[in-house]
Amino acid sequence: MAGGSGTRLWPLSRALYPKQFLALNGPQTLFQQAHLRLQSLASQDIAVAAPCVVGNEEHRFLVLDQLRELKSAPESLLLEPAGRNTAPAVALAALQAMAGGQDPILVVTPADQTVTRPEAYTAALQTAIRVAAQGDIVILGVTPDRPETGFGYIKASDLAADGAGTVQAFVEKPNLATAQGYLAEGGYYWNSGMFVMRASRWLAALKKFRPDIAEATQASFDVRTTDEVFVRPGKAEFLKVPSESVDYAVMEQCPRQPDAGFSVRMVPLDAGWSDLGAWDAVWQVSGHDEAGNAVEGDGLIQDSRNTLVHATSRLVAAVGLDNVVVVETPDAVLVADRSRSQDVKHVVAKLQSAE
Ligand code: GDD
Ligand code: MG
Repeated sequence: MAGGSGTRLWPLSRALYPKQFLALNGPQTLFQQAHLRLQSLASQDIAVAAPCVVGNEEHRFLVLDQLRELKSAPESLLLEPAGRNTAPAVALAALQAMAGGQDPILVVTPADQTVTRPEAYTAALQTAIRVAAQGDIVILGVTPDRPETGFGYIKASDLAADGAGTVQAFVEKPNLATAQGYLAEGGYYWNSGMFVMRASRWLAALKKFRPDIAEATQASFDVRTTDEVFVRPGKAEFLKVPSESVDYAVMEQCPRQPDAGFSVRMVPLDAGWSDLGAWDAVWQVSGHDEAGNAVEGDGLIQDSRNTLVHATSRLVAAVGLDNVVVVETPDAVLVADRSRSQDVKHVVAKLQSAE
């Protein structure tokens, strides 16, 4: 899933160049890292096909170029004329996967994350694939260390012999008090945003919980055009698809319906996972000096603490700052309290409404 807009990482992340296509923590972009991680899943009993990328029409050459740099190419690149969030995006991938008459297992991954222990990632995903082969939806859960409100929360039972627990409740993006309560209570995991299931399982689950999204996406796929790897759903039809994330459309609903005929299972992921959603997270995964400062590009920090300077075109000097984020680009500069990183999206909304 590579069609998000990444507004909280403004001004580096822009509509034409959103964060998944940026190199924020090393030489490879987040999208490239996601692709390389998926290649590691192959083993004796698991064959990995070329990726199916679902993204925005405007980013089609970014996707191809970034895969070409890794000497890779997509099996297909599903192009959305406009984002309708992740539930339709995964439905398009499932329809495409089944168009050849097969029903493969899909490993669905966001393209905006990092992992510091790749072996642990590989092992957890391989377990999830084996569990999903039995028919359930399997999500990957991360043990929380703070009451983050930008994530989904999973309550899961103890792990069974196959390495997976059963999801008892799923709450997408709770408020701070609720998140604090989950942390205090224990037994909750963050939703990593990665999940695994057969293509037909996803389509059936979406049809059960959101038939409107399932039918509208199918209608757009039925009139698709194919041009080499590019697959375009019908534009007018796709624009009619209701916008919703997989988390609200399906994950929150499933545990409430024990008669659904399948379960949502969870495999724990302990791989140094992080969602580079906002500048605070970029600061967290960057190399720090003794005072907790991180510099990317031409930056100079003096007498400051826990501050991030990210300079792309000019020298940026910071003196006496405490928990501040400074991001410089040729045409826009952000200065923000690090703890308010999530609120950068409001600046972008304001700029968009002024356009
Ligand atoms: N193709 C496509 N179309 N991709 C999309 C769209 C869309 O309309 N919208 C978002 N994406 C992609 C993003 O590029 C990203 O890779 C992924 O889908 C997830 O979207 P985000 O917008 O980053 O979601 P989030 O971070 O707020 O929340 C999700 O991820 C969290 C973990 O990172 C949820 O699944 C949470 O429950 C989860 O905790
Ligand atoms: Mg995200």
